[in-house]
Amino acid sequence: MAVSRALVPGSFDPVTNGHLDIIARAASMFDDVRVVVARNASKTPLFPLEERLVMLGEVCAPFKNVAVETFDGLLVEYALRTGATVIVKGLRAVSDFEYELQMALMNRRLADRVETVFLMTGAEYSYLSSNIVKEIARLGGAVEGLVPKSVEKRLREKLA
Ligand code: PNS
Repeated sequence: MAVSRALVPGSFDPVTNGHLDIIARAASMFDDVRVVVARNASKTPLFPLEERLVMLGEVCAPFKNVAVETFDGLLVEYALRTGATVIVKGLRAVSDFEYELQMALMNRRLADRVETVFLMTGAEYSYLSSNIVKEIARLGGAVEGLVPKSVEKRLREKLA
């Protein structure tokens, strides 16, 4: 039987409970899920790639069908190379829509065999983003419940 393989791409700087919710739901929908971290993202991250991979590895460990990987270059090229037919993205507010639509349409133009599937964010995570979590942590606010415990600890250490 064919294996359904999906990619959950992102920067994950750092992984939040909102990401984790999307990963968990993707894991229940597809046989094989690869959480893929872009190596060549233009933003300057707070956490170096290796640390983001460690954090993702820790929080994804309970899911037996989820692996964590990195990729260079175009996401759809990586999907085609690894036999993934689906890209899973989380959608929060309307403000996400325009950017996500642009990426989904461009990705389809580049590779129409790869479908983008959007999962609506869990309502409790609809206001959550890595950037806002970093800002709260940087300014000394509590990020408890917004990120996994292991990430909370690393954020505290990094910004101490
Ligand atoms: O978490 P982010 O920063 O929103 O993730 C964005 C990401 C990594 C999914 C996106 O930038 C991406 O797919 N980058 C890979 C390069 C690529 O394929 N670009 C064309 C997108 S249309």
